[in-house]
Amino acid sequence: MTKRLPSTGVDGRAVDEAGCDTADILLVHRIFRWGFREMPVLVRAVPAGDLERAETVAAAVELIDKALHIHHEGEDRFIWDKLERREPGCALHVDVMKAQHAQVAELLDVADALLADWRTTADSAVGERLADALDAIGTTLGVHLGREEADIVPIVARVFTQAEWDEIGEHARGAFPKETMPVQMGLMLDAMPAGERDQWLHENLPLPIRALWSLLMRRKYTAWQRSLFPEGMPALV
Ligand SMILES: [Fe+2]
Repeated sequence: MTKRLPSTGVDGRAVDEAGCDTADILLVHRIFRWGFREMPVLVRAVPAGDLERAETVAAAVELIDKALHIHHEGEDRFIWDKLERREPGCALHVDVMKAQHAQVAELLDVADALLADWRTTADSAVGERLADALDAIGTTLGVHLGREEADIVPIVARVFTQAEWDEIGEHARGAFPKETMPVQMGLMLDAMPAGERDQWLHENLPLPIRALWSLLMRRKYTAWQRSLFPEGMPALV
């Protein structure tokens, strides 16, 4: 999972050439598959009227819903038009992606309304409807992510520059509240095989952030895991 850097021209300046490393999107997709598999289970397990537990779970559901919204917003903004211009043969695939994003957005609106109700009542009937809505997102997303990985990502890896690809990640980093960073980073690391984590940290994060992860953020992530899954968090891989 080595990040592809711009190559260097004869005069030493970086040359922006087509071709980028898209491995990070597979990690993000893995987190979403995991999230929409595990969140409905957590919601259904909250005892009726247990407002404290409902709030803990609701905050995690809100985070994963918001992350999906931001991720799709980034793809809508930075991928589809550019990809269609460069590879007109992809137009049909892009249409499918846009339609699936619209479908997911509608389902997220339903889930968000139920979430707002459930977190203030811990009503078990509302919780069941929320869990059903999250299941529905997971099902639609399962189809969408598979198609995106098969029909879109390999073409983007060929025709986008690394800087163009990185815009999607930068958009996500800018849109997330800073306090969610420990959980984002922890999930990214858990989404990759254990043997690749140290290398990923070195290649993708500057030293101050790596130090912050070791000293502070990892502990916050562990506390988040324990509060959600007291008996151990189901693995992402
Ligand atoms: Fe997508």
